[in-house]
Amino acid sequence: MKIKIVGAAAGGGFPQWNCNAPLSRAVRQARPGFLARTQSSLAASADGVHWALFNASPDLRAQIAATPELQPRADGPLRHTPIAAVVLTNADVDHIAGLLNLREREPFTLYATARVLETLDANSIFRVLNPAYVERRELPLSGTTELIGPDGPTGLSIETFVVPGKVALFLEDEGAGAENFGTRDGDTIGVRIASDRSGDTPGRSDPHRCIYYIPGCAQVDDALRNRLQGAGCLMFDGTVFVDTEMHDTGVGEKTGARMGHMAISGPDGSIEALRGLDIARKVFVHINNTNPILEPGSDAERFVTDQGWEIAYDGMEMEF
Ligand code: MLT
Ligand code: MN
Repeated sequence: MKIKIVGAAAGGGFPQWNCNAPLSRAVRQARPGFLARTQSSLAASADGVHWALFNASPDLRAQIAATPELQPRADGPLRHTPIAAVVLTNADVDHIAGLLNLREREPFTLYATARVLETLDANSIFRVLNPAYVERRELPLSGTTELIGPDGPTGLSIETFVVPGKVALFLEDEGAGAENFGTRDGDTIGVRIASDRSGDTPGRSDPHRCIYYIPGCAQVDDALRNRLQGAGCLMFDGTVFVDTEMHDTGVGEKTGARMGHMAISGPDGSIEALRGLDIARKVFVHINNTNPILEPGSDAERFVTDQGWEIAYDGMEMEF
């Protein structure tokens, strides 16, 4: 199975269009070591030919241009894409807006939970994905789904599971109470991705050959820890390093928790929560432009790498 990080940043990207804080400025000024990152997306393929895209970011057109694996084959038909399936892990703007780039009467299968499909249905602009070409299939909140593209099985299976998160920002409802703004169980899922070809279908697999992709997660509980034990790779929510960093850097007031993202550091952070598990590779994805791990040589970057975590960048490849 091949994995490619298509976009390693959180919503807004790095640099964010309107952000003039030191990190965004540094990457805009091409300071040494600073890498621009596009918004949250991952691609996987069992055969190197048919690809599944996990989340469709607003940067998708540029991401495809930067990713030969996702471009039409040079010897392919006049209209063609290797993207056989798109899987959405929630309805956040940074995960669904890229669907608009996938119009032009191209067949693929779109997978999402009922809650996310409801959101797409409720926003008529997504009808640019003509149902005659783009089949929408519902993902269970818990269970295994074989990803099928227009040409048949892609050779990839996913297992879906609910993680603590938050309803998409544009669906927040103050009337539903400032506690959770209308969040319901199942607003955010994580996925385990495995390839049939290596005999690692969920349930009968070599755990080291599967990867977990969890770009949004508000909390790690025991069930999630148990699930992740023995994984070949975990790509996990690296939105903020410190819960209050938006406030601390002066760019905003929202905490990570308020956005449905647990911090990396601290006693309640993800490094602590996931410590001690047997996971071969641990990679932070969905990194916000305020996160100091984006600064090469910073204390935060060193801390994260010293703890055995990697920091995702656009184009990062892995094979399992
Ligand atoms: C998030 O992950 O919190 C959202 O993507 C924020 C946003 O960009 O709307
Ligand atoms: Mn996001």
